[in-house]
Amino acid sequence: PLIRREDYTAPAFWIRTVDLTFDLDPAKTLVINKMAVERNPDQPGASLRLDGEDINLTRVLVDGEPVSFRVENQQLVLDNLPDQPFALEIRTTCAPGKNTQLSGLYTSGGGFFTQCEALGFRRITYFLDRPDVMSVYKVTLKADKLKYPVLLSNGNLVEQGAIDADRHYAVWEDPHPKPCYLFALVAADLVSREQRVRTRLGKEHLLQIFVRAGDLDKTEHAMQSLMASISWDEIRFGLSLDLERFMIVAVSDFNMGAMENKGLNIFNTKFVLANPATATDVDFGNVESVVAHEYFHNWTGNRVTCRDWFQLSLKEGLTVFRDQQFSQDMAGSASARAVKRIEDVRTLRQLQFPEDAGPMAHPVRPDSYMAIDNFYTATVYEKGAEVVRMMHTLVGEAGFAEGMKLYFQRHDGHAVTCDDFAQAIADANPESELTKRLDQFKHWYTQAGTPRVQARGSYSAEHKTYTLHLSQNCAPTAGQPAKLPFVIPVAMGLVAHDGRNLNLHLEGEALPIGTDTVLVLSEPEQTFTFVHVPVEPVPSLLRGFSAPVVLQAELGDDALFTLLTHDKDPFNRWEAAQRLALRRLLQAVSGHGPAELDPRFIQALRGVLRNAELDAAFKELVLTLPSEAYVAEQLDTVDPQRIHTARESLKLQLAKALHEDWIWAWEQHNDCGAYSPDPVSSGRRALANLALSMLCLDGATRHNPIWTGKAFQRFKDANNMTDRLGALGALVNSHADLAPDALSRFHEQFRDEPLVIDKWFTLQAAAPEKDGKVFARAKALMQHPDFTLRTPNRARSLLMALCQMNPAAFHRPDAAGYVFWADRVIEIDSINPQLAARLARALDHWRRLAEPYRTAAREALGRVMAKPDLSDDVREIVTRALQD
Ligand code: ARG
Ligand code: ZN
Repeated sequence: PLIRREDYTAPAFWIRTVDLTFDLDPAKTLVINKMAVERNPDQPGASLRLDGEDINLTRVLVDGEPVSFRVENQQLVLDNLPDQPFALEIRTTCAPGKNTQLSGLYTSGGGFFTQCEALGFRRITYFLDRPDVMSVYKVTLKADKLKYPVLLSNGNLVEQGAIDADRHYAVWEDPHPKPCYLFALVAADLVSREQRVRTRLGKEHLLQIFVRAGDLDKTEHAMQSLMASISWDEIRFGLSLDLERFMIVAVSDFNMGAMENKGLNIFNTKFVLANPATATDVDFGNVESVVAHEYFHNWTGNRVTCRDWFQLSLKEGLTVFRDQQFSQDMAGSASARAVKRIEDVRTLRQLQFPEDAGPMAHPVRPDSYMAIDNFYTATVYEKGAEVVRMMHTLVGEAGFAEGMKLYFQRHDGHAVTCDDFAQAIADANPESELTKRLDQFKHWYTQAGTPRVQARGSYSAEHKTYTLHLSQNCAPTAGQPAKLPFVIPVAMGLVAHDGRNLNLHLEGEALPIGTDTVLVLSEPEQTFTFVHVPVEPVPSLLRGFSAPVVLQAELGDDALFTLLTHDKDPFNRWEAAQRLALRRLLQAVSGHGPAELDPRFIQALRGVLRNAELDAAFKELVLTLPSEAYVAEQLDTVDPQRIHTARESLKLQLAKALHEDWIWAWEQHNDCGAYSPDPVSSGRRALANLALSMLCLDGATRHNPIWTGKAFQRFKDANNMTDRLGALGALVNSHADLAPDALSRFHEQFRDEPLVIDKWFTLQAAAPEKDGKVFARAKALMQHPDFTLRTPNRARSLLMALCQMNPAAFHRPDAAGYVFWADRVIEIDSINPQLAARLARALDHWRRLAEPYRTAAREALGRVMAKPDLSDDVREIVTRALQD
């Protein structure tokens, strides 16, 4: 059952208002749904087809009278409906306590929660479950007072009271018309942190964060992040909060990160709860960006929503772009902004580039799907954000703000398409490079695959000119054998070997344009000539990663060392170091070239580490080798064991060669005063923890027992989770004798903190493999009393860590990793198909694996495919993987 973008038709009916009453009971909840329905005059005579899934229908009334109806293919069909507006009442029941899919209405920790995006609302009541049907909701909740003291839904609380001695009720009204995927309810035993704020418009708002009683001391950071998001959106885009009340609710069982339901965001606890004792610096950063992301959706997603699910990136790409900008602004200094950018690019290249090169490759705006939940991907989110970022680059910050203004003027309150967004940005900037090439720019929405940009430069000492030749191509992806050229903004500069960033003067232009510029590559090949170039330069291309492409610049080591030391663009300094490291890693993997690191490379890294001008956070990024996944990305045939061995060996060489420097780094950065998650202190912790792990790794030296001893001490004394987990990681990852003791102390200390226990599972399952012990341990952890497949965070903490983050433990010559994987996918599919489909993607790249991995992986995929009653979610992933 493939759904195609080109088959879109407008709905045959509109649902103007919805009056929902819930009689909440885990075993049997009654839902009374009263709708005001209106025929779409463009489709006279059409039947009304309402979606429904896993619900029991007990009554259908039209204008108060019973009518005849059919239920076919999970749809309730009503024929011969009046042409005039009519009232439709539908009663259904469902069993939230048995809803292990966590889509629709379900229970978690004794409370009721909902998740409706994308297609969960049909699991609550029969409805036109599509985002272009927008309605005004009134919701009445009835539930046991003791078990569910808090009753929440979207909008404003208009009434509440007792029903009888045991039960109570609440009535909520949301004045904003919304698609049903933004509906939410919560009925649970929760407490809240509250904050009143006054926005620039002068209106007062109530902000609330609801959590379980023991978690109140972990909500301050989320509240600060929310307040910062509210003012940022007002200042940067003139977008104000449009609700009297804005609520965030934390829930432990949740398939995704969080959900932007109108006025009632529901979050995975992982992205709300944070205090220094239980959350790391990375967690603090994630909470900040996810809180911002969901809040920003209130405009980009909710006020203007998607016409259909193929347009998902309309809201997700744009909102990720907005949360990335926000986090950069929050980071403050230029250097901290660059660090955030490097982290975002690293994620993009580690997750999205492989996706674009594998069987799940799809355009930012997909053309077809079997299960839409499979398309909440790095492509739709992260690449989608890069596409918005390129528009921002092409029209400039002020032009982009104008474009956003026009977008809301035109489309506020409507369900629209990616084309509508691009058109608004372009129309507000008629003279821009974007507008000149809008149709071509939109290839970013329609074509899958990562373009490759090749750069060749030549210098004429005689004419003092530098000629830069750029060309682009993009490999075929499934269903797209030939690609049209993209519009690629290439931010760049020229750096002299002596370190000067040269003034740029393009041939034919009157004046120089400063030390950086943006070239727009739109043809398959283009040449740019710079004049008055005093010396032969090194090109610094794609500064700040100005486009989501693979750059093939073929720079030699000399040129890369120049960029690493002198480029004014911190992103490209980091990139130069990554390229130098990658070159050496690839040599080690292929067995060509020396397996020994050259003194010059080591000296350059030492130079960065000891450089007083650079921030610790930046140093930590430079000194971290490219991941095994990124190395695999560069190869046509992947032997995960060889990559692992090569990387471990280079890492060990860095540990040894820089031994004194690591000691210095540790000593200079390990003091942690009072904890604060700001970029400067978190950067210091990151570098100190890297140094500590390098020092523990270096097991061959006689100092090693001293350093593992120090790590153990640090593990016990740390006043925050970042340092505690850093020290524990140093012990576990170096397979130190003290690791088992530290692990059991850690478990004992945090047994009542589920999010910390997740870290405990992950650390063990993601440890560098050694003689199969890590795989065996991870497998055994399935039997641990704390382990369950029913809580997605917990399942992921072990299974994703093993199957996705730990290639060397997962890809075993004896195929045991794949057998384990297939068993789990099959097992989870019967519980929670969305979760199973995520795990299923661990073998996306089986075709590129070397033997014996490849054959064994294929067999495992075949076994999953053969499962009776396989969900559409997993079927789609495995079908694509096996397709030729
Ligand atoms: N819209 C949510 C967010 O990005 C994600 C919801 C995804 N839900 C799903 N079932 N795939 O903020
Ligand atoms: Zn989102």
